[in-house]
Amino acid sequence: MIPFTPTAFRFPDRVAQSAWIEHVPFMFWLVDALRPGRFVELGVHNGISYCAACQAIELLHLDCSCYAIDSWKGDEHAGFYGEEVYADLAAYHDPRYAAFSRLVRANFDMAAAHFEDGSIDLLHIDGLHSYDAVAHDFETWRPKLAPNAVVLFHDTNVRERDFGVFRLWAEIAADRPHFEFLHGHGLGVLGMGDDFPRALEALFAAGRTAEGREGVRTIFAHLGQAVGQSATMAETIKKVERDAIARGADLRGVVSSAFPAGQDAIREELTNAVEIVRLRTVLAENPKNDGALSNLSLALNRNNRVDEAVDAIKQAIEMRPDAGRYAHLGNLEARRRNWPAAIDAMREATVRAPDMDVFAQRLAQITADSEK
Ligand SMILES: C[S@@+](CC[C@H](N)C(=O)[O-])C[C@H]1O[C@@H](n2cnc3c(N)ncnc32)[C@H](O)[C@@H]1O
Repeated sequence: MIPFTPTAFRFPDRVAQSAWIEHVPFMFWLVDALRPGRFVELGVHNGISYCAACQAIELLHLDCSCYAIDSWKGDEHAGFYGEEVYADLAAYHDPRYAAFSRLVRANFDMAAAHFEDGSIDLLHIDGLHSYDAVAHDFETWRPKLAPNAVVLFHDTNVRERDFGVFRLWAEIAADRPHFEFLHGHGLGVLGMGDDFPRALEALFAAGRTAEGREGVRTIFAHLGQAVGQSATMAETIKKVERDAIARGADLRGVVSSAFPAGQDAIREELTNAVEIVRLRTVLAENPKNDGALSNLSLALNRNNRVDEAVDAIKQAIEMRPDAGRYAHLGNLEARRRNWPAAIDAMREATVRAPDMDVFAQRLAQITADSEK
């Protein structure tokens, strides 16, 4: 069996509907196992696979430069989309990962010229999925790969429309170290050399026996399913919330009768969503209600919507600053691992309420966490 570290069991910070979402646990595992010095992704769209890699790279403090390459216009298989996709990703990505990662808005072929030969340790090919397109991307970028690079191919298990990744995979994987996942539309993991870290060797070894394949596939399919279901739930709740705001509906009764005991997690999340709707409605009537903003921030945080929670508490602080609000902001920034802002906010809380030992203790804890 392959070795595991806790990294593979984390939940992605960025979730959205994506055919890739079920492979996030494997991306976490792979980044930890391979520890690449350079990662390039061809085909990024809303950044689910790419941001998963960045999350793991940041978490593990890896010395890795990352490049996300896409026209951000879409293609025949992914569908064509508007400017909002790039804008949404850039707004998420840049504040978190700009220190080591860049979104490169370009055609794959044009971008290739800007990378040195032999420089990429991990390449993820996820552009157009016809046989000709994916074979072309592989051939174009092959000289750029480091001697023991790993290449990921998404959609190796799609056998409809004119998807042809499975044909290319059959041609190139047979005489190289490899592993193929079948869930989440299929993901091929290809070793380009013959000298890999121990965990990667174990993955390729597992791929050589039916028993090994079944074991690894089962584990990652289950992990992936859990991530996929949570993402679907989060999206659904947001949609319900948007619809409710649009209709001015009161959903509290609906939630408590719709979810019987035993579904406490869903019930709690929906209850929070209803509270968010209620507070937004209050704020629509009186945008200067700083108490509602503060409560909104707490409810958003309970539903793991940390960025929105930060926005809300900052607005509340602007209207009426107090120690508790600064302490809440400090905790939120710590959740985002935005250490300087977390320390500043928590320090402000201690200054405003010097007798509150709990704030001083939190400040010490956050300062210690920031140094790990
Ligand atoms: C399947 S999506 C990528 C999905 C993404 N990896 C995820 O995690 O959800 C494919 C993307 O490739 C981009 N694309 C396809 N061919 C391209 C090309 N030749 N140059 C630049 N971008 C391309 C499209 O704009 C589209 O956003």
